[in-house]
Amino acid sequence: MANSREIPPAKGKLGVLTPGLGAVASTFIAGVIAARTGLAEPIGSVSQMAHIRLGKKEEGRNPLIREFVPLATMDDLVFGGWDPITPNVYEAARYAGVLKESDLSSIAGELESIVAMDAVFDQRWVKRLEGHRVKDLTSKWDQALALIDDITKFGVDNECDRMVMVWCGSTEAYQEASEVHETLEAFEEGLKNSDDNISPSQIYAYAAISAGVPFANGAPNLSVDLACMQELAAKRKVVIAGKDFKTGQTLMKTLIAPGLKARMLGLRGWYSTNILGNRDGEVLDDPENFKTKEHSKLGVLDTILQPEVYPDLYGNIDHVVRINYYPPRGDNKEGWDAIDIFGWLGYEMQIKVDFLCRDSILAAPIVLDLALFMDLAQRAGESGVQEWLSFYFKAPQSEIEDVNPEHDLFIQQTKLKNTLREWMGEPAVTHSEAG
Ligand SMILES: NC(=O)c1ccc[n+]([C@@H]2O[C@H](COP(=O)([O-])OP(=O)(O)OC[C@H]3O[C@@H](n4cnc5c(N)ncnc54)[C@H](O)[C@@H]3O)[C@@H](O)[C@H]2O)c1
Repeated sequence: MANSREIPPAKGKLGVLTPGLGAVASTFIAGVIAARTGLAEPIGSVSQMAHIRLGKKEEGRNPLIREFVPLATMDDLVFGGWDPITPNVYEAARYAGVLKESDLSSIAGELESIVAMDAVFDQRWVKRLEGHRVKDLTSKWDQALALIDDITKFGVDNECDRMVMVWCGSTEAYQEASEVHETLEAFEEGLKNSDDNISPSQIYAYAAISAGVPFANGAPNLSVDLACMQELAAKRKVVIAGKDFKTGQTLMKTLIAPGLKARMLGLRGWYSTNILGNRDGEVLDDPENFKTKEHSKLGVLDTILQPEVYPDLYGNIDHVVRINYYPPRGDNKEGWDAIDIFGWLGYEMQIKVDFLCRDSILAAPIVLDLALFMDLAQRAGESGVQEWLSFYFKAPQSEIEDVNPEHDLFIQQTKLKNTLREWMGEPAVTHSEAG
């Protein structure tokens, strides 16, 4: 057996901080509270429900992941967050309308007691929202320091042993990295000059990493996928991951595309459209915010299908993604995919997928898993980008610059499980061995 890492046990409380207490964050928090009081199962959570095979098949070793690696338990979690609109998690859950009142009523008191801290918010980045629970500070440097104070205070007040931060805030307007993002020094200078190119999510990321708190980005905007943040994470020895939770339509895409490729079936076009009526849909109705999401969604197919290696099969694909804000559906998104494929002798075929999904129901267990696995990675002595968590993201970050991250869900799953095996001193399972 290989050497296992020295991973300190997950003792004490783990604070989970979410900038953004909207549909995803409130569904996540309500779900964990319901699960730990025995009212529901944490369905969709790999950390809670998945088993992991160890050694050869005939050994029959197949423990639950949470019994194999020293994860914090759901009982250890305490929740906090910031929001420019939502007063507390109960109100957030009621506004989002994801969970029924009958599921919320018995835990209403606990949800109500999780009160949003005033946000670092700037409407320039989210035109559709009017924030009123906002820190009264104009200097971005002061905003960063105020967030660090919030983090420290939350940790003390809640007697946290450790904390993690998962961005569950709105998608910010599209932006490309600029000079201010190139180095940590330039970024800190930019904070002091309140540089226009620094968005609120970047200020939260800076505050978290500076305070030694792991940061995962659930939205597609630029935050820890910036050279300055990677420099800070290396300096502070903090783990980071991103970006954009892989739920709904992109989850389907990363299930279907690897299957088509495995069978060497060609793809001519993939037209994806969504109707969505929650606040996220409203924010994404603005072209600048949609552009951020579109970039994250469009990257998926090329890295799975490798058109440069298979030009005859995948060299000429029309990939289109649309999101339409349609209030009657609320959080219950409908995602249609029209997929034009071709097979033997070039004969055309079509696949239609109509996924009537619930966005936040799919995203909530991802927040739980990221919080627990980021905390594990930090205790395991990791720092910087956690590529083994690509499984959870639409636009995963690569550890190595200019190398494409893996998008195929099944390869991502193998990478995740083999990382855990390696840390615990178990050999990787390659499925090539006898048995
Ligand atoms: N639900 C999914 O399946 C899914 C999948 C991938 C990514 N996401 C992303 O996750 C994020 C959250 O989604 P949601 O459905 O909960 O959206 P939501 O609109 O319900 O919640 C987002 C919350 O963030 C708050 N917010 C905005 N700017 C903020 C700031 N600067 N600081 C603190 N809070 C801020 C808003 O007031 C809002 O309450 C969005 O960016 C979304 O694109 C969601």
